[in-house]
Amino acid sequence: MEIRALVADQHLLDQAAELLVLAFAEHWPEAWPTLDDAREEMQEALLPERVGFMALIEGHVVGWIGGQPNYDGNVWELHPLAVHPDYQGHGIGRGLVQALEAECSARGGLTLMLGTDDEAFLTSASGIDVFPNPLQHLATIQNRRRHPFEFYQHCGFSIIGMIPDANGLGKPDILMAKRLVAWPSHFPTGGLE
Ligand SMILES: CC(C)(COP(=O)(O)OP(=O)(O)OC[C@H]1O[C@@H](n2cnc3c(N)ncnc32)[C@H](O)[C@@H]1OP(=O)(O)O)[C@@H](O)C(=O)NCCC(=O)NCCS
Repeated sequence: MEIRALVADQHLLDQAAELLVLAFAEHWPEAWPTLDDAREEMQEALLPERVGFMALIEGHVVGWIGGQPNYDGNVWELHPLAVHPDYQGHGIGRGLVQALEAECSARGGLTLMLGTDDEAFLTSASGIDVFPNPLQHLATIQNRRRHPFEFYQHCGFSIIGMIPDANGLGKPDILMAKRLVAWPSHFPTGGLE
């Protein structure tokens, strides 16, 4: 598997667009319902301020990831990430996240964040009224059917919050983040593990 920067190569971009539709079809069918929607996303991923990487096997795109700066470049948002369904579970997603982390860090980023929607009731934080204590629901979150929040935890991300009902009643967006730099030893720590 080879990971390389996203470039304006129409052939590769078309493959990346196709796998975006495929990867999200089961649990997020509204994300990129058509190839045209996915092609539009590919064009946005090539905007000058953005960064992105493709994973290739024997010249075929099997995954891709994008990122964009926020908060004056202190925080980068991971969006989107997709691995072709036939190639999931082989470390490609983790490899793409690592490539994005290195690039965002090299550009001065302190934090990489993302929102991961639960529209298909894959976690215990969905399908219920999370008010008045949404953070309590997140503290005890259970993964019922392989929601990707756990993949991100395996990559070192922490859950930092949620947007309740982001995708309709009981369908939250789960917010996660990871620090990209070491915390200086002379700075105070939070004291909680
Ligand atoms: C989520 C996704 C990007 C993961 O990519 P992947 O290449 O399959 O994942 P990896 O093989 O790199 O997995 C890394 C680790 O996460 C774990 N993992 C992967 N997907 C997981 C899931 N859905 N639930 C729980 N754990 C998961 C793996 O078991 C592995 O564990 P390890 O640390 O013990 O080795 C991929 O499944 C995908 O594209 N899914 C559909 C689209 C999607 O969900 N995108 C993200 C939306 S925010």
